[in-house]
Parts: sequence; C-alpha cells; structure tokens
Amino acid sequence: MILSELSRQYANLFQPVMAPSPLTQLLAGSLEVWAGSVVVDVGCGSGVLSVTAVEQGARIVYAIDTNPLALAETAALARLAGCPRRVLPMLADLSDLSNIVPGPIDAIVCNPPQLPSRSSTANRSERMAYDAGTDGRRYIRALIQEVKAISVRNGGTPLTVQLVTTSVAGPEMTISELRAAGFSVSVVAEATAPFRPAYYDVVELLPAASYFRKNGELHERLLSILAIPR
Ligand SMILES: C[S@@+](CC[C@H](N)C(=O)[O-])C[C@H]1O[C@@H](n2cnc3c(N)ncnc32)[C@H](O)[C@@H]1O
Repeated sequence: MILSELSRQYANLFQPVMAPSPLTQLLAGSLEVWAGSVVVDVGCGSGVLSVTAVEQGARIVYAIDTNPLALAETAALARLAGCPRRVLPMLADLSDLSNIVPGPIDAIVCNPPQLPSRSSTANRSERMAYDAGTDGRRYIRALIQEVKAISVRNGGTPLTVQLVTTSVAGPEMTISELRAAGFSVSVVAEATAPFRPAYYDVVELLPAASYFRKNGELHERLLSILAIPR
C-alpha cells in the first residue's frame, strides 16, 4: 500500500526530482526490515526506501544523499507518511558512511548510481542519480568498502545489506564481492524494465549481453539482493 498510495499523494503535492525508479520500486517491494532496527538508506533520493523501512518497523532511518534536493524530498515524504522523527536526512557522501552514521547499524538499503558516465546532456540531479564512473561500479565498490568498515565497527551487531542492481552494472561482480566480504548472498526479487532516457545516453558503453530488446525497446534486468553475514 505504502508505495502506491504515497507515490500518488506525493505526485499531487510535488514535482519530484527523484521519482522512484523501477529499481527503487523493486527494492521497496522486496525489503525486509526487522522491527526496531537502525537502517541507513544510502542515496535516499525520493525517500521511498526510507519510508518503506519505517513502515516495516525500523526504529530510525538515516537517509543520506549528496543532493540537497533529494534530502528535502525525503523529509517531505517522511512528513507526508507521518514519520518525520524516524527518518533523519543527512547530507553526506556514501564513502564517509562508516564515519558519520553513529552507533551500530542493523541494515543498509541502497539503490546506488550505477550507469557508466559520459553524459553531458543530463541535468545535475539526473547525473547524481545515475553516473557511476567509467565502469558504472564506482558507488557499488565504495559501498562494499563501507559495508566492510561498518561490519568491523558494529562489534557483535550483524549488518544486513539490501541492494538493488541492474544487469548493465555487472551484478555477478557485486554478488561475488559481497561474498568475498563475508556475506551470504541471495537474489530475493527480479524484474525487467525498459531503458530510461539516461541509459540511451551511454548505451554504447554498456556490454551488449547485459540488456535485451523487447517490442522495439531496450530492457535491463533488475535484481534485488539480500546479503546477510555468514
Ligand atoms: C539511483 S538514485 C536512488 C534513488 C532512491 N533510492 C529513490 O528512492 O529515489 C541514487 C541516489 O544516490 C545519490 N548519490 C549520488 N552520489 C552519491 C554519493 N556519493 N553519496 C551518497 N549519495 C549519492 C543521488 O543523489 C541519488 O539520489
């Protein structure tokens, strides 16, 4: 209920910069957050994942993003959902995660930027939402580094990672890097989606086997990944 109803109300109230993408929707629909947990939504964008985590019982969600507009949208969505005190927007870079979020963390949820960058036409918010270095994996790599640091810092508190990724960003590499970091990894939901405009800007940078054509349109495969400590 939360995603469709909030999206409807939200669209009536705002012109969102960060409308929830099919990736965010897949992760929101497959999210499993424990009651009372402390969650970090990395690259919170619209705030849909933060609010979904609260709806599932998260005690507190640190919603981090480098885009102030995303933080404003997340705060507005949390107010609309009646949980402004449980979603704490923070202007921060994901590479600082282990330094800036206080205390043990139970879960990280993330839909990272994951397109290779070469776009000169997208506006600043779109670039921040998608561009992820020459191989599209800059943020996924940084996230896994931070996950390792937080796992150590957490002491005995087990850290769960829920991440949504796309076939165009090397999901098999993400899975094997998470396994190498000590996690048991499973794909908990899958979907396909037509390419969005930003994808066509960089289509020649994407491996041909990483997408497919259907009804004249290019499509990506989406995977919602759950990683729990072994
Ligand atoms: C693909 S979007 C995620 C969308 C979001 N989950 C939602 O529900 O709308 C990626 C987000 O990461 C943010 N971002 C980009 N670089 C970042 C960084 N270095 N640290 C934290 N967030 C970053 C972008 O501003 C954008 O909001």
